[in-house]
Formats: sequence, structure tokens, C-alpha cells
Amino acid sequence: MRVLIDEASIRKKVKELASLISEKYKGQKLVVIIVLKGAFIFAADLIREIEGVDIYCDFVKASSYGMSTVSCKDVRIDYFPEINIKGERILVVDDILDAGYTLKKIVDEITSRSPESCEVCVLLDKPERREVEVKVDYVGFVIPNEFVVGYGMDCKEKYRNLKYVAVYEE
Ligand code: IMP
Ligand code: MG
Repeated sequence: MRVLIDEASIRKKVKELASLISEKYKGQKLVVIIVLKGAFIFAADLIREIEGVDIYCDFVKASSYGMSTVSCKDVRIDYFPEINIKGERILVVDDILDAGYTLKKIVDEITSRSPESCEVCVLLDKPERREVEVKVDYVGFVIPNEFVVGYGMDCKEKYRNLKYVAVYEE
């Protein structure tokens, strides 16, 4: 395992993203939709750094990867937010934007329910891997095409608890 982004760098970046989001939605209601499972730690830190915004939270769960590390076009929604989306300002928070199928599917499902707006925030972006275009509004770090774990991200459900992001090496 090789550390790619250390704990201090993550913390600094999370604060920067939170301050951009706080600025944009100051004094407004914002419905944050967290993509399970990988985004749970990032989102927990991010929403606690957002200030002066009326935050509501729900989750969405999609599966594409299953237990493998190969990208898949066939994205299934396992849990869709129960919270009202119509007319609301939505922020989708995910761990990593890879080929793009997962976020595209989630954003399409949300926008089809007529929100006031729908922005996307990801901690990591692997642009080299992109196969479908997804509009992302807040990006933490652009990373090379390597499989990463930690800070919520897993390999077969392991390593989610690491405080840093590491390149997975067997
Ligand atoms: P996409 O549909 O290819 O964009 O898949 C994105 C999802 O795959 C992310 O939300 C992650 O859950 C997972 N994923 C993609 N790359 C990695 C990685 O390097 N480590 C761990 N999970 C990843
Ligand atoms: Mg994910």
C-alpha cells in the first residue's frame, strides 16, 4: 500500500470544498445526497465543515463494481433517497469519479425529478478512465489511473477505515 493523499492534505481539501459550498448556498436549504458506501467518510467530514447552510441529508446506493475492480456500464440503484427532491437544491457527494456510469445514472435519476438545481462534489477524479461525460462542480483531487483505497473507499469491503488515500497494491 502506497500513500497517495495523506490525512492532512485531505483535511485541508475538505475545508476548501466546504467553504466553496458554504459560500454558494449561504442561508439556503441544501439537500445533500451521499453515495453509499464509499462516500460516507468524505461526506461526514464535508458536511460538518459547511457553515451557514441549512443542510438536509439522505443517501443513494448504486452498484456497478460488485466485488470486482472492473468498470461496468450496468448501474443498478439499490436505494433511492426518500427525501423530497422536486424543487430542492441538491448536492450529490461521491468518493470517486471513474468511468462515470454511476454518477451519470444517479444525476439522471435526480434531475428527472425536477430539482431546483443539482450539483456534484467528488473527492477524487480519475479523468483518464472516463467513458461517459458527467458534469462535476467540486473536485478534491485529480489522480492518475490507479486503484485507490482508504478514507471510505474499499477493495472487497476492506481498507475503508484508513485515514488516508492509498494506491492498492496486492
Ligand atoms: P464509475 O461508474 O466507473 O464512475 O464508478 C465509480 C464508482 O466505482 C465509485 O463511486 C467507487 O465506488 C468505485 N471506484 C472507482 N474507482 C475506484 C477506486 O480506485 N477505488 C475504489 N473504488 C473505486
Ligand atoms: Mg462509490
